[in-house]
Amino acid sequence: MNLTRLVYYSQHNPSMSLGVPDLIATCHRNNAALDVTGFLQFNGHSFLQVLEGGRAEVSSLYNRIVTDPRHLNVILIQCCDVRERMFPGWSMGLHEGMDEQTKKVFLRYFSGNTVNPETIGADSLLAALRDLSREMA
Ligand SMILES: Cc1cc2nc3c(=O)[nH]c(=O)nc-3n(C[C@H](O)[C@H](O)[C@H](O)COP(=O)(O)O)c2cc1C
Repeated sequence: MNLTRLVYYSQHNPSMSLGVPDLIATCHRNNAALDVTGFLQFNGHSFLQVLEGGRAEVSSLYNRIVTDPRHLNVILIQCCDVRERMFPGWSMGLHEGMDEQTKKVFLRYFSGNTVNPETIGADSLLAALRDLSREMA
């Protein structure tokens, strides 16, 4: 079974309430059963999520997530086969907010001083998320 990594970016739907603890509890429950791991960064307005696992599992999970009305404008950044997981210890790691330290971590990968995931490549975004996850470990 091919190991696949998928990365997307989306905006919180302001007309839908979002209970992050409930969402993460769902992620942990479902993802563990699917052997899917990953990481979710929510800055209060937008989501950046990595899903990694079997190709079929990641694909069907993503198709479910895309239709979730709690977010909008889902942009697929990357979906590819990988040799190893980047977040093997997290059924879904969560990092919330965009404080000064978080901004500093992201800005290592940007040429300007605005954190806009649409302006850098998937590898840079993944490196920033990996750095955040290491700071949390
Ligand atoms: C930004 C975002 C990320 C999500 N990530 C996951 C996820 O990693 N795993 C998951 O099972 N559901 C995730 N969901 C929730 C799914 O869209 C869906 O509500 C959930 O899988 C339904 O699970 P249930 O049938 O067990 O309630 C996410 C939703 C949003 C808005």
